[in-house]
Amino acid sequence: MSLTKRILTGDRPTGPLHLGHYAGSLRERLRLQLDHEMTILVADLQALTDNFDNPSKVRENVFALVADYLACGIDPDRVSIALQSGIPELAELNQLYAPLVSVARLSRIPTIKAEIASRGFGDAVPYGFLGYPVSQAADITAFDAHLVPAGADQEPLIELTREVVDRVNRIAGSDILIRPEILLSSDPRLPGISGGEKMSKSGGNALFLSDPADVVREKVMRMFTDPDHLRVADPGKTEGNVVFACLFAFDAARDEVEALAEHYRAGGLGDMVLKRRLNDVLQDMLGPIRQRHAELTANPDYLRDVLSRGTYQARAKAGATLARVRSAFGLHMV
Ligand code: TRP
Repeated sequence: MSLTKRILTGDRPTGPLHLGHYAGSLRERLRLQLDHEMTILVADLQALTDNFDNPSKVRENVFALVADYLACGIDPDRVSIALQSGIPELAELNQLYAPLVSVARLSRIPTIKAEIASRGFGDAVPYGFLGYPVSQAADITAFDAHLVPAGADQEPLIELTREVVDRVNRIAGSDILIRPEILLSSDPRLPGISGGEKMSKSGGNALFLSDPADVVREKVMRMFTDPDHLRVADPGKTEGNVVFACLFAFDAARDEVEALAEHYRAGGLGDMVLKRRLNDVLQDMLGPIRQRHAELTANPDYLRDVLSRGTYQARAKAGATLARVRSAFGLHMV
């Protein structure tokens, strides 16, 4: 097995991980960790760019996030799980990249525009928030990442990273930074339990990986299906139907789910049958994760050790990159 491409991914520690994370990114990371060199960044500094008035939310979610990763099967012997704020080299790279990116360029990035609008900053957009894509470019380049697994909405951020890379390489006169590519997830976005929008912690529509069994059951029973499917005999819609979205995402018996979907569309299949099936699937999937999560949470020393080892490994890589960039900019060592 060759460890060819290096991968960087990350999450803001602002809440527990949910089924949407599992379907959209965690499962892929579990596969990728087997044959790639991977760093997962716990992006606490980035989380503070819009949670600066609630730092305890970020603080409390750091080890919860590490526990989520490990409970799902991320192997700390294969993957460096690193804490962003424990790597000051990232802040220095951010500083060195900052002059290369215009405010206008940052303001045009669609996700940044949308996030600024949704956070209600008005015309008082924090400088650090507007600049987080530059900081993310620092994260990605620091670890010489070739690939960044992410959703399509992140593509403009990776594009910005490539622009930074090109500028630095031109200044350096050689390719001291690697141009990263996005690795688009093939899994469709999971909707929230009440349908419509994607599952998210802020949307209040998430089923969390660490939810207790009775909460999982209760959320499955509440899931949006097809409001026009009033009687069992009625034909039902499977698109926009959250129970089907979850069955397609998590039920290993794909052929059976296809057959159920056909039956549902034709009429004669009730929601309860499907919800019970989904509940069984999710209880089987989440039971071991929940148990491992509880064991890990009871062992904070172990979590701290994993995070400090990962941060130490990541710091060594970031230091090497920073040395190249400092030298490209002609900074003196005194
Ligand atoms: N932007 C990611 C999020 O919102 C977190 C993140 C920070 C990240 N740095 C990164 C992701 C570098 C990929 C690569 O969760």
